[in-house]
Amino acid sequence: MTAIMTAPLRSGEPTVVQVALGARTYDIVIGRGLLASLGARVKALRAGARVAIVTDEAVARHHLAAAEAALKGAGIDTARIVVPVGEGSKSYATFETVCEAIIAARIERSDLIVALGGGVIGDLAGFAAASVRRGLDFVQVPTTLLAQVDSSVGGKTGINSRQGKNLIGAFHQPAMVIADTALLDTLPQREFRAGYAEVAKYGLLGDAAFFSWLEANWRDVFSGGTAREHAIAVCCRAKAAIVARDERETGERALLNLGHTFGHALEAGCGFSGRLLHGEAVALGMALAFEFSARKGLISAAEAERARAHLAAVGLPTHLKDVSGGAPGIDELMDLIAQDKKVKRGKLTFILVRSIGQAFVANDVDAS
Ligand SMILES: NC(=O)c1ccc[n+]([C@@H]2O[C@H](COP(=O)([O-])OP(=O)(O)OC[C@H]3O[C@@H](n4cnc5c(N)ncnc54)[C@H](O)[C@@H]3O)[C@@H](O)[C@H]2O)c1
Ligand SMILES: [Zn+2]
Repeated sequence: MTAIMTAPLRSGEPTVVQVALGARTYDIVIGRGLLASLGARVKALRAGARVAIVTDEAVARHHLAAAEAALKGAGIDTARIVVPVGEGSKSYATFETVCEAIIAARIERSDLIVALGGGVIGDLAGFAAASVRRGLDFVQVPTTLLAQVDSSVGGKTGINSRQGKNLIGAFHQPAMVIADTALLDTLPQREFRAGYAEVAKYGLLGDAAFFSWLEANWRDVFSGGTAREHAIAVCCRAKAAIVARDERETGERALLNLGHTFGHALEAGCGFSGRLLHGEAVALGMALAFEFSARKGLISAAEAERARAHLAAVGLPTHLKDVSGGAPGIDELMDLIAQDKKVKRGKLTFILVRSIGQAFVANDVDAS
């Protein structure tokens, strides 16, 4: 993968990143204060469309009124569908509620769904959009850092099965992504930090220069302003490029799972509870993937330590002992890894590294 560093933007203009997928090509628009332009942007995308906004209770409290005002200001008729906060909403029950509400709001094929929220809302609303009337177009307005750099881009949508996460779903690309970096100002610090693990992931998997930039500038990413916008734009460019080359994850897109084999097992071992957020599990998983790569002699111990040290510096967990209430034991972890959908014919798939910025897919890792 080539490096995708650019100098941080200084102008007040939003950054536009295109996801090039032929007839399904769409723009990710990134900038501070963009929510106010939602109405004008939706109108330009689809004149005359009505909109159903799907959001969760916490996001609704902070940002729903502004989103509705922006749409109403452009003469767009809106309906609101508000679901409970949390992963529990990626369920059959809530999916049914959302689909029924979309139909009740008389949203038709020429109309739009707006997913206003984090990854839970993007996945749930996106899957409802993919399903109702055999496919409605939808716009992602991600409100968490994780959603702005990862889940809102690339078209993976879905809900959880009782047997595992994200097992029911569809590839359904959004028609537009509006990432207003100011929406992250209301995000709890712990959620922001967890999302930052995915930001660091892009540097660690494919862009050493970006990783160095993060080591020097992460505080400004946390505090907002142009550094935050720049970091989000770099991540979106990286994800857009990977998705454009491998939309359905037959190859390269798997690199985005760096830290996720260990991470998912740790999340599952903690019962997907508040003990370990997804991004925290990914941070720990990436630290373990680097340590594993060092033990296999792929990279030096010093470079693995550099990767770990940055994650630890921002306050993310990087040792099993950092998990509150204790991490699952090795046997439980191995069982959980074996159940993960990334297992093919008994061999484990891990994303390993040759250096910071050079990850690769290892399909034949032996369980021992
Ligand atoms: N589709 C994909 O490609 C993809 C990729 C990565 C993760 N995901 C999914 O994303 C989900 C995790 O996403 P998440 O971390 O955004 O979780 P989330 O959507 O649950 O949001 C985290 C918390 O922050 C709150 N919140 C959101 N925006 C806020 C804001 N601006 N101000 C205040 N509070 C706010 C939410 O109410 C919630 O409590 C998981 O279900 C995961 O499977 C999907
Ligand atoms: Zn992730």
